[in-house]
Amino acid sequence: MRGIVKRFPGVLALDRVDFHVAQGEVHALLGENGAGKTTLMKILYGLYQADQGTIQVDGRPVAIRSPTDAIRLGIGMVHQHFMLVDTLTVAENVALGLPSSRGPLLDLDRVTARIQELSQLYGLEVDPRAPVWALSVGERQRVEIVKALYRGADLLILDEPTAVLTPQEVEELFQTLGQMRQEGHGIVFISHKLHEVLTISDRITVLREGRRVGTVPTQEMTRTELARMMVGRDVLLEQNRPPVAIGEPRLRLEHVSAAGVSGQAVLHQVSLTVRAGEILGLAGVSGNGQRELAEVIAGLRPATAGRILLDEQEITGWSPARRTEAGLAYIPEERMHDGVIREFSVAENLILHDHVRPPFSRGPFLDFRRIAAHSWELVRRFRVKTPDIRTPTKSLSGGNIQKLILARELSRAPKVLVAAQPTRGVDIGAMEYIHQRLLEQRAQGTATLLISEDLDELLALSDRIAVIYEGRIMDVVERDRTSAQELGLLMAGIHPART
Ligand SMILES: Nc1ncnc2c1ncn2[C@@H]1O[C@H](COP(=O)(O)OP(=O)(O)O)[C@@H](O)[C@H]1O
Ligand SMILES: [Mg+2]
Repeated sequence: MRGIVKRFPGVLALDRVDFHVAQGEVHALLGENGAGKTTLMKILYGLYQADQGTIQVDGRPVAIRSPTDAIRLGIGMVHQHFMLVDTLTVAENVALGLPSSRGPLLDLDRVTARIQELSQLYGLEVDPRAPVWALSVGERQRVEIVKALYRGADLLILDEPTAVLTPQEVEELFQTLGQMRQEGHGIVFISHKLHEVLTISDRITVLREGRRVGTVPTQEMTRTELARMMVGRDVLLEQNRPPVAIGEPRLRLEHVSAAGVSGQAVLHQVSLTVRAGEILGLAGVSGNGQRELAEVIAGLRPATAGRILLDEQEITGWSPARRTEAGLAYIPEERMHDGVIREFSVAENLILHDHVRPPFSRGPFLDFRRIAAHSWELVRRFRVKTPDIRTPTKSLSGGNIQKLILARELSRAPKVLVAAQPTRGVDIGAMEYIHQRLLEQRAQGTATLLISEDLDELLALSDRIAVIYEGRIMDVVERDRTSAQELGLLMAGIHPART
């Protein structure tokens, strides 16, 4: 790809980007959210058309107007969101859309046999006869890969494939990619995770704000150098986690259960304790009850059984506002919906919980100078992109609304902080700052429940890590006595000690 330019209304998503993948290489495309990685690859796969630039495949100039053109040229793509039909089997999904003289679903035996061949060759375990609805996320991803290979993909694009996988599944995926590389495939591996890129790729192209910063051989790179390329300045990747005296329990859950929308149990007898000065990580694959647990603690979802205590006072039946008043801060996962009042200004949202308290009010009066100074300070420190603190929050981009909520909740010095995926979707520059704030609050005695799907983040910040699986706590382990391996097994519902 040469000189690729792509504009969306108001954004230059790609600015004269060159990108070249060789046969038999894993080429990582690295960049922060919004850098243009997906857009560049969607152009290669025919989903978007470039405004300028040229594409060559095997040295020949080509026009790729649709995924059909791309597939014909041997290009396959596995998207961040899978595109399978739940009610059909694996083989039926693979057969869908294939040219066939007899109607695709009549060729199922042939398709099944070929899927088995491909699974064998690349170590992609899939059962062609299984219905897709019964598959795990990792299995669905394998089906997508098989589907692309079935269609003859010489070049396979994987858009953030590890985001939905357990560490074991990531390991398996990497083995498959290694096998594909050996067979001479070219692979584009999109990621924003430095250690993955360093583990699996041969070369790395870094994008920042739509521009190609550089293309480098992986062997010559360190995490620090890559982070600098991604962000455009030095980034402190590993925060110091100084020892902190762990104090009294500040948040306690005793046998807490909760139900989902249709009444089914989603949390089963969860018991956890978070003490002053402690970060308790909650690990788990997405959708195992993390969200519900956070909501129950915040008071947004009723507990059907059990007790919740804040500083040893029972708060189980309290409203969210009363909990906030008592010292609970909550960074919700669904920040766009639950975290701000969209019609309010940036400044108003920044002091949402504290406007009736000093230093923002004196008696009945709001201290607007103080509020403005505080708001500007947070906007600057969290790099919230807004023209003014009086701008209505709803006109900010999603990523900036996230930063605004983080800025507010992390600046309140709460007794208990429940942080659900606090760095998801923010760039690593902002991540660095968020991690620093979490550790500062820990040093000041905040008890933090850190819910994250990012094991590196949990291992970097937590004192102990609880693992949740299907609404149950599998185990709670000391940070210094566990490994990604052990956590990965627990996340898959397997108790290492008992196997
Ligand atoms: N369909 C679209 N319409 C408008 N803007 C888009 C669209 N897709 C991407 N963008 C914008 O283009 C930029 C690059 O996005 P993207 O390629 O998704 O980044 P990445 O995959 O690196 O996170 C972002 O600013 C994003 O908001
Ligand atoms: Mg993307």
